Amino acid sequence: MQGIRKSFPGVVALDGVSFDVRAGEVHVLLGENGAGKSTLMKILSGALAKDAGEILLGGEPVHISGPRDAHQRGIRIIYQELNLVPHLSVAENIALGREPGRFGLVDRRAQDQEARERLGRLGVAIDPRTPVGELGVARQQMVEVAKALEGEPRIIVMDEPTSALTTTEIHELFATIERLTARGVAVVYISHRMEEVTRVGHRVTVLRDGRHVATRAISEVTVGELVKLMAGRELTEHFPRRRTPPGEEILRAEGLSRAGVLHDVGFTLRRGEILGVAGLMGAGRTELARVLAGADRPDAGRIYLHGRLIAARGPRDAIRRGVALLPEDRKAQGLVLGLAVRANVALPSTPRLTRLGVVDAEAERALAQRQVDELRIRTPSLAQRVVNLSGGNQQKVVLAKWLAADVDVLLMDEPTRGIDVAAKVEIYELMNRLTAEGKAILMISSELPEVLGMSDRILVLSRGRLAAEIRADGATQEQVLAAALGQAS
Ligand SMILES: Nc1ncnc2c1ncn2[C@@H]1O[C@H](COP(=O)(O)OP(=O)(O)OP(=O)(O)O)[C@@H](O)[C@H]1O
Ligand SMILES: [Mg+2]
Repeated sequence: MQGIRKSFPGVVALDGVSFDVRAGEVHVLLGENGAGKSTLMKILSGALAKDAGEILLGGEPVHISGPRDAHQRGIRIIYQELNLVPHLSVAENIALGREPGRFGLVDRRAQDQEARERLGRLGVAIDPRTPVGELGVARQQMVEVAKALEGEPRIIVMDEPTSALTTTEIHELFATIERLTARGVAVVYISHRMEEVTRVGHRVTVLRDGRHVATRAISEVTVGELVKLMAGRELTEHFPRRRTPPGEEILRAEGLSRAGVLHDVGFTLRRGEILGVAGLMGAGRTELARVLAGADRPDAGRIYLHGRLIAARGPRDAIRRGVALLPEDRKAQGLVLGLAVRANVALPSTPRLTRLGVVDAEAERALAQRQVDELRIRTPSLAQRVVNLSGGNQQKVVLAKWLAADVDVLLMDEPTRGIDVAAKVEIYELMNRLTAEGKAILMISSELPEVLGMSDRILVLSRGRLAAEIRADGATQEQVLAAALGQAS
């Protein structure tokens, strides 16, 4: 790709970017949220048209007319935001967009069989007939990967493929990438997890504000240098957790159970505390958060808020009591994509901003502007529709909305998923500030360094049960992993 330019109203997303990838290579694409990574790859995959520049495939200039054309040329992309059709089955999603068989008929048995085989090769057992909408984010991600491997791919773009995956699945994915590159497939890999960059990449390109900053061999660059190239400045402390002595109990759970997902889970959460929740995929972490947020009803167990037993009456009730959930799947559950940044941020605060049935527009604007400034949300204006923001900036909008609502307990399910390194530190600082103000945070995270670095205590779930409760200070990754795997420590 040479001299690629692309503008959107109010934003220059790509300002003459050049980028190349070779057969059998993993080329990592790095940059802060909104740097232009996804836009560049959407142009390659035919999803967006470029304003200027040239694309060469095997040295030949090509005109990529659309996604179908790109697919036929062997270009596959796994989008950052999942793109599967929820009501179709896993097998149907994998087969989607392919030519039908002879006589225009679909052989469902063959389709199911093929899907099962492909997922098996990725090390995941999913019934191919399950509707995709019933799968968790991580499993949907694996279906996306299986789909991309269809046919004879020449270039596979992975836009944050591991953001929803846990250690074991990431391992499977990396093994798949190795098999692909050994066959001469070129892989473009986008991720905000710096430890992955050095593990999978051969070369790395850094974008900043829509411009090409550097391309280096992975062996010739350090993580520190890359972070500096991305941010344009030095970033020091990674996990600046400032622990404060915990105050009175805010939230207590006893014997929480829900058939098939949670068994007898109990804990307390105090003012000023960050309680980390670790575990493998399917361990019950998200389910725990959903029950606490009133989104799912427990079959048994009790929840106390400020020492008072509360009846689960749904999310609205939980929010009114000061408990809010930052969901794992922001696209489906955290945002109204078609609405402006301003409306999304102000949504849960609307009752506070309303006088005699009329929303105070100026107060709403001020509230949204303050959050956009504090979280450094990259948007041309408050009126921008959230669907047009980059993935990481969408995540910041979800966070902004609950910060503005001023709740007591924040249940954060993968809060820094898809967030760039510099912004991560900002979010950690924010968590420090919130706990210093006496709020409490329950943080689910698949990134062990984050769990260890930011929590005060860690709950480890394994197959729906509480496997361990560990003091974070002095704990090791091995300790947490062993508990997560259900081994006695
Ligand atoms: N359809 C669109 N309409 C308007 N602006 C857009 C659109 N798509 C992207 N942008 C803007 O272009 C810029 C680059 O976005 P892009 O999604 O490429 O960033 P990114 O590097 O992938 O970031 P992230 O790490 O957060 O995913 C951002 O400022 C974004 O808001
Ligand atoms: Mg992106």
